[in-house]
Amino acid sequence: MSAIVYHPKNMIEPMEGHLAPRTVAESKSEMAEVILPNDTNPLGNLLGGRLMHLIDIAGAMACHRHSRSYVVTASMDHIDFLAPVHVGDLLILCSSVNRAFRTSMEVGVKVWVENYMSGTRRHVASAYLTFVAVDRHGNHLPVPQIVTENEEEKRRFEDAGRRRELRKAESQRKQTKK
Ligand SMILES: CC(C)(COP(=O)(O)OP(=O)(O)OC[C@H]1O[C@@H](n2cnc3c(N)ncnc32)[C@H](O)[C@@H]1OP(=O)(O)O)[C@@H](O)C(=O)NCCC(=O)NCCS
Repeated sequence: MSAIVYHPKNMIEPMEGHLAPRTVAESKSEMAEVILPNDTNPLGNLLGGRLMHLIDIAGAMACHRHSRSYVVTASMDHIDFLAPVHVGDLLILCSSVNRAFRTSMEVGVKVWVENYMSGTRRHVASAYLTFVAVDRHGNHLPVPQIVTENEEEKRRFEDAGRRRELRKAESQRKQTKK
């Protein structure tokens, strides 16, 4: 049996000009997944950990697009599971970068269940994650700044700055407790 091996020599460096500012729209990503029995608990509800895994991938997609580099997950903020997701449901995950800092980016992921009979969508979860851009050796890389184009994107940009300050304060509080 053969396996795909990711090795630094097979990986590429970011291309010249990758630091040019980019719009939020350029990072927008959408993922779809049909929930199968293996994803659920004995009641047929989607496992929280499986949903977090899908959210992580959807968030990474937007950050790859924005930074045009490899990324690692630095953190996932608290996550709201607003409604259960059932086996057979069609899950839609939408992500976009809210704000870029020096080497990190905050991305928002919103998760919906789409009823393919009626064509309607139900919001089932949301999360904010931070990813750090890295090169093939794992060194942190600067990321392009984000360009907001409407009021909604401006609000998310401002909110992301406030959340970053809260994360920093929480991390300092934990350090001083050690
Ligand atoms: C996340 C990680 C890259 C941070 O690196 P570090 O050297 O500890 O942190 P630094 O203080 O240099 O910070 C680098 C950036 O990460 C941000 N960051 C670090 N920890 C963070 C956290 N817990 N939440 C949000 N952002 C964080 C910093 O704010 C900084 O952002 P900036 O450059 O935009 O200002 C590092 O801890 C790591 O590699 N963790 C493991 C990642 C991983 O394996 N993820 C799962 C698989 S992809």
